[in-house]
Amino acid sequence: MPGFELFGPEERKEVNDVLETGILMRYGFDGPRKGIWKSKELEAEISRKLGCGYTQLVSSGTAALTTAYAALGIGAGDEVIMPVFTFVASFECILSVGAVPVLVDVDETLTLDPEAVRRAITPRTKCIMPVHMCGAMADLDPLLQICKEHNLILLEDACQSFGGRYKGKYLGTIGQAGTFSFDFVKIVTCAEGGAIVTNSEQLYTKLDGFSDHGHNHKGADRGADLHPFPGYNFRISELHAAVGLAQVRKLDHFISLQRKSLQQLQSILSTVPEVSFRHIPDPDGDICTFLTWLLPTEGITRAVVAELKQQNILAGNFYWYEHNWHYIRKWDHLKEAASLYNLTDPQLKALAALANTKFTASDHIMSRCISTAIGLLWTEEQTREKGEKIVAAIKKVLDTQMVAS
Ligand SMILES: Cc1ncc(COP(=O)(O)O)c(C=O)c1O
Repeated sequence: MPGFELFGPEERKEVNDVLETGILMRYGFDGPRKGIWKSKELEAEISRKLGCGYTQLVSSGTAALTTAYAALGIGAGDEVIMPVFTFVASFECILSVGAVPVLVDVDETLTLDPEAVRRAITPRTKCIMPVHMCGAMADLDPLLQICKEHNLILLEDACQSFGGRYKGKYLGTIGQAGTFSFDFVKIVTCAEGGAIVTNSEQLYTKLDGFSDHGHNHKGADRGADLHPFPGYNFRISELHAAVGLAQVRKLDHFISLQRKSLQQLQSILSTVPEVSFRHIPDPDGDICTFLTWLLPTEGITRAVVAELKQQNILAGNFYWYEHNWHYIRKWDHLKEAASLYNLTDPQLKALAALANTKFTASDHIMSRCISTAIGLLWTEEQTREKGEKIVAAIKKVLDTQMVAS
């Protein structure tokens, strides 16, 4: 990852098809487009690949989440349970539809701890949103069980994990809906883009309309469309879809390249007894974009991060605990409710409570973990070299600590 590392003639061919007709919009212009419908083709390709009923393309993963919330009827006052480790878009979208983000601890899957989810349920809970972080999956069975017991919606934020699987099913297709991002740093990229998948025709009709100002898309005359409800412009362009089409067809190849490098790196890091790894409920379903490894204490981890920096090999190794985008510790703008638009009273109350909540269990995990991003172009030799350098840095820190204690 990211997919742009392997752009080639396939992407150029799909884009040129669109440029030759000059029709860059996904709807209408039926005559001049001469049968070129890249967005529709990509939607069909994704549905076929993931084995799901329906795919709706949109302009980003953020648009995908917002569209999914709206179509699932999640709005003012409803509570959505989400993890403290994710990307900021997860709570931005919840706030934007008027709902309340309820943040809970992660476990060693690096996403929702089912017991923490149970404790967070109230009569206002409407949805549980696991985030399949860094290319691997939440343990969905216990979460599905909770949804069943409490009649809740399961929305999978699979923005980082397109092509991942859990017990034989593709991520995103297991809950009522799932979202993907095809932004520039994802395994499959079209510069900016996203998708929502579902098996419900009723939900799909809403996704389709909401992402295009509520158009019902019946018939060939766009101007004559009816608007059963208001929506937004979250449309993808034909140029973006064209790139995505070429990229999606390479997905399995990308995953197999990454799997090989990840396994090699993991076996090198495994030689250090103090290193453990993120719990992945279904390792065969990991798309292997990151190898996440854990050290025994926060002190050792911080020292290893400093050592990697000192040796100029920190790039590509992410210490999420200190990251501004991905972990709650740095989300002061959320905790301070620093919104440009007025928030509702339930939202303000929840954010005030959040500012005083400690996430000790998550801190214990996140303060000890480092994720190494896996490149698509790494050779065996380069992977070995990277692994050996990381191991040397870890051993240096461990030796220093032993001498000091
Ligand atoms: C977990 C998660 N959700 C949502 C998004 C939003 O996707 P986009 O950047 O396409 O808007 C991202 C983007 O990185 C993400 O990582």
